[in-house]
Parts: sequence; structure tokens; C-alpha cells
Amino acid sequence: MSVTNAAMSEVVVVSNRGPLKFSRREDGELVARRGAGGLVSSLSPLLVGTGAIWIAAAMDDDDRAASREGLVEAEGLRLRSLDIDPATYRMAYDVVSNATLWFVYHGLFDLTRRPRIDRRWWQAWAAYQTVNEAFAQAVADTAPQGATVLIQDFHLSLVGTHLAHTRPDLATVHFTHTPFCDPTGLRALPDAVAEELLSGLAAHTACGFHAQRWAAAYRDCCTEVLGRSSATFVAPLGPDPDDLSRVAGSDACQDAQSWLDDVIGDRRLILRVDRVEPSKNLLRGFLALDELLGQRPDLREKVVFLALVYPSREGLPEYLAYRTEMETLAERVNRTWGTPGWDPVVLAVSDNYPRSVAALGRYDVLLVNPIRDGLNLVAKEGALLNTTDGLLVLSREAGAWPELAQGAIGINPFDVSATADALARALDMAPGERRALSGAVREAAGRRTPRDWLNDQLAAAEGHQPG
Ligand code: F6P
Repeated sequence: MSVTNAAMSEVVVVSNRGPLKFSRREDGELVARRGAGGLVSSLSPLLVGTGAIWIAAAMDDDDRAASREGLVEAEGLRLRSLDIDPATYRMAYDVVSNATLWFVYHGLFDLTRRPRIDRRWWQAWAAYQTVNEAFAQAVADTAPQGATVLIQDFHLSLVGTHLAHTRPDLATVHFTHTPFCDPTGLRALPDAVAEELLSGLAAHTACGFHAQRWAAAYRDCCTEVLGRSSATFVAPLGPDPDDLSRVAGSDACQDAQSWLDDVIGDRRLILRVDRVEPSKNLLRGFLALDELLGQRPDLREKVVFLALVYPSREGLPEYLAYRTEMETLAERVNRTWGTPGWDPVVLAVSDNYPRSVAALGRYDVLLVNPIRDGLNLVAKEGALLNTTDGLLVLSREAGAWPELAQGAIGINPFDVSATADALARALDMAPGERRALSGAVREAAGRRTPRDWLNDQLAAAEGHQPG
């Protein structure tokens, strides 16, 4: 399905984080720059100059000031940002979206302690309802008659319920970027909450997911809780090859190369690029390296495990504790195996996309071992950027697994020993086999682009099955 700009002007994208971030210049003037995050970088280039409207939450006072100007046009985008009471927003975002729904959908609760559905939690749930209502009101006020509305992610599960009442003329889809849990996992939520969430999602024309298994889990939940299932579609996101080439050719990326030369030298490179999130399984990645170096003395001083990781959601104690544990473990591996002039682990915790792109260009092995992941775009970006026949060691729990299975070395992410074996196999592989496998992953990773993903959502909104 191809979409004209005329049709795109009738599209409204709705997400928690918006495509523009505002800040004040010294003279007090508000200026906009492109916002951060995977969704924004995938979708923004496709919406520039189309007239599509994006609705998102204001993240700070500067964003709030901009939101008072109504619909803002900057960088070719049209943004309506919502000024939500900061305390209400934080309760909804931290307590419900990130500390509850994210953990439920990833199946990551330590059930002996969490979730704790107490009075504070119910206040946060009321805040989540308020935030969703504010989004729904903004859509209702802004969307042209008969528009197509693409609502993104678990922060906005209840918008569909409101829109079904207030704007039945709209065609709406909801797209979930995380995994979805099975009915057993969902039982960690209060019954009324599970019902409200699923009713909100089921109010859309269709609900989209990155992988078949998340769509199936959602349908199973609907069947158990609502007694009916709603339409679903599967539309994996793909990397934007033009954007990757642009970043790879940038000065920032070139500058990162000399840093990488210093860090890696002539050693083999095992790389990971992730947000610091409990789902990413950073700890078992370091434990696998520890086991590998224990078993294979010949690899000592010959490999570097470079972990380029981005700080994430540091307002949550779970995330802070996870970061500390990760740093302690990396240090322990270095103390155990390091020698003068060689740290087996190089852990860099900062937000530096050009440096990640530079490293993805030259890995021998890319480790992507999430416990569970909606998709994992890094696995695909790595395959497109890599120029050294690097191999992908990929968790079978990543949403991208079925797409990349043919050329990737699959692992059970809980099995540290199997992960160590997979790393060894990748490092030992003969050049001919490396070339064949990395070529297969590259070919698969390039099959879909952000444009395909967007078009699938538009098709689903019209009631068509994508593909
Ligand atoms: O962890 C992945 C994810 O939850 C995505 O589903 C979502 O789009 C993104 O993170 C949101 O991140 P943040 O909370 O930093 O905006």
C-alpha cells in the first residue's frame, strides 16, 4: 500500500514521547530539535512535510511552554504536545507504565515482591487513566474527520475506549513495541485493570505487534478476560538504511573510530549495544564471557567484550539496582581475567549513537541476548552496518528471532554456558561459513524498512491484513 502526502495529512500519530524536544535559547526564545528514541528516529523522517499530526506528552517545562502555543510546526513536523500535570504524569509513567505494565508484558516480575497493588498503586492507576483521557481528548479535538490514528505503546492502552465513544469516525490502530504476556502473566494485575486495559486495546480496528507470538499472547489474554478476541496484525519494524548510512558517514562516527582503535587494537571484538534495562540480560552476557575465558585460555588477551549501553529510566529503583549490579559484575570479570594492558570488558554507559554505529560496523560477534524483547532493532542495524562478516548471537526470545533465525546463532538467553559456547563457535568459525551466515542475516535484516512498518499500520487501520 503506498500512501500519498494528501492521505498522510489525515494521519495522527500518538505516542508518549514526541518527535520534538524544546529548549530555551539564551535570549529566552524556545527552539525545537529532534527528540530521542527509536520510535522517533524511525517515524519522523516519514512524516516530515506530510502534514501528519503527532500528539505526545510534554516532558519538561520548556516542552510545556511550547505546548501552550497549540500545534507547533518545526523541522517539517507538526506536533501537539500535551501539558499534563507533572505529578500525575510521573505516577502514570513511572508506577504504571514502567514499573508495572512493562514488567508484566516482559514477564520480568520477581513475583515474591512485585507487583504490590496497594493504595499508592491505585492512585497511580487513576493517574494513568487521567493521562490516557487527556491524550484521547487531544486526539478528539485535533484529528480531522475520518482520520487514521496510530497509537503507540503500553503508555496509551486506554485511549481507544474514549475514542470509540467520542470519535467513532476515526480509524484507529494500537501498536505495542514490547512483548505481550500470556494470560498467566496478566493475572499479576488486578482483574478490573486487566479488563480495562484489554477493552481499551480491543476498541481499536486492530492491534499490532512486532512478532507473531506477542499477537497470539494478546489474543489469548483477550479470550480469557473478555471472552472475545479483537483483530491483530504483525508488522516488524526494520532499520532505515539511509539513516544508518548517514550516521555511518558522519564526523561523529569517524571520530569514534579512533576511540575504537584504541580500545580494541588488533583483538577480536564481541560487541553489545543496549539500553540498561533488566530485559536486556546484560548480567548473563558478562557471565558468559567469564565462562568463555575460563574454558578457553587461548582467547585471553585476544578478545574485547565492548558493552555500549545507554542509561534508561533511572527514576526507577529496579533500573538503578540493575545498573549497579552490571557495573560490579563487569569489574569482577576484569579483576578475574584482566592483565596489564588488557581489560576483557570495556563498559561504556552513555548515550552515544554514532559511537554505537561505528562499533556495529566492525564487530566479530554481536551479542543480542535479551530475556524477552518486543523486536530488537540493534540486531538488524548491526547486520546492515557490519562490514567484517561479523556474526550475530541472538536470543530466541527476541521478537526479531523468527526473521533472522536463518543466519543467526540462536541461544536460550538463560543458559549462560550455551551463550559462552555460542560466542566460542562464532569466534572460531571459518571465513567461508562466517560470510554465508552474516550474508543471510544481512539479507533478512534489510527486508523491511520503517516505511513498510508504517504502511502496515495504515493498512490495518483500514481493516486490511498487512503483507
Ligand atoms: O523498552 C522498550 C520500550 O519500552 C519501548 O517499547 C518504548 O517505545 C520505549 O522503550 C520507551 O522508552 P522511554 O520510556 O525511555 O520513552
